[in-house]
Amino acid sequence: MKITDRIRYVGVNDHCKTLFEGLWPLPFGVSYNSYLVFGDRIALIDTVEEEFGEEYMGKIREETGDRPVDYLIVNHMEPDHSSSMDFIRREYPGIRIVTNAKAVPMIAGYYGITDNIITVKDGDTLDLGNDTVLKFYMTPMVHWPETMMTWLIGENTLFAGDAFGTFGAVDGPVTDTGGARLCGWLDAHADTFPEFRSEMTRYYSNIVGKYGIPVQNALKKLSALPVSRICSTHGPVWERQITEVVSLYDRLSRYEGEHGVCIVYASMYGNTAKAARALESELAARGVPYAIHDLAQENVSYAYRDAFRFDTIAAGSPTYNNCIFPPVAAFMAGLCARTLKNRRFLAFGSYTWAGGSVRLLNGEAQNLGFELLSEGFAFAQGYSAEKCDMSAAADLLAR
Ligand code: FEO
Repeated sequence: MKITDRIRYVGVNDHCKTLFEGLWPLPFGVSYNSYLVFGDRIALIDTVEEEFGEEYMGKIREETGDRPVDYLIVNHMEPDHSSSMDFIRREYPGIRIVTNAKAVPMIAGYYGITDNIITVKDGDTLDLGNDTVLKFYMTPMVHWPETMMTWLIGENTLFAGDAFGTFGAVDGPVTDTGGARLCGWLDAHADTFPEFRSEMTRYYSNIVGKYGIPVQNALKKLSALPVSRICSTHGPVWERQITEVVSLYDRLSRYEGEHGVCIVYASMYGNTAKAARALESELAARGVPYAIHDLAQENVSYAYRDAFRFDTIAAGSPTYNNCIFPPVAAFMAGLCARTLKNRRFLAFGSYTWAGGSVRLLNGEAQNLGFELLSEGFAFAQGYSAEKCDMSAAADLLAR
């Protein structure tokens, strides 16, 4: 698929995988993006999941014909982008791998490849001939230590690895200027970025969320580049909505939430759930933006998305074995792993004979540096508005 005279898209769409990294749901599928850059010599930038090898090679051959691919640029070693490496080497025995020193032992460890590797450093270039020059920028921990980005001089195109990527297959046009669509999205008139915003936020929070500081470092390093096209390894090629995409990454990596409440809860016998739903009604009545997630019933992926999206978290948990109920404890541990910051916090939940979950939730929130909006709303046995004043809780959350 043509992006420009010098850039071709040869990625694939995966509609079969149900959990990305074995953890995160893919209701709209996912794309593994790979690109060809044509000079006098040809470079292939990143690869795809190896199970798509035949389809992938067909796309490469369609663009290259009988010409060999001279270089494989490895921006990132996670296997969703590197696992066709061995396959590509068999198709093009003379191909040289271009990557950085941190990737070299990973290439050996994953695929047993130790030869025909060119190691580049920050700022190095690779001349493909015919005024086609690639420049390399090291961007460690966006999302692994070896991650780098590749800049095509003259085309103002950034091959960004996982950065600015999103869940969601892209089956039709791949550029946003061409009308890239999120697979399964129903509104034919939706602008590209609003429809991808939710899945991009979920992708960022689930996959990259821990690495806010490295993302900020990368954004600063690349800020002087006159970017007119971002070719990520997942999702659309961004041309028209670069400002929106970069702004979202900037805000998420600064852990800056927008006004609103992420309500999360789990419930054993429905009492903490009743408190959560009462809180939802109170927030709705006040016009406060919110999302609500039952952590016992749904994948935590969506709760992480909204914990990153909103500036406030309300967490509900019964006391269970003198602890936080396990699904809520796991959610809090995930926030800690992602080093989420800058949040306001409120806890609520039921107990039967000895409380503890609200106190423990408050302690975990304080460890994260969150601002506690109250001591929390704990109640014994069954829920009632008299025992657990969710109207008062909503007043605190709405401020
Ligand atoms: Fe899409 Fe970090 O791999």
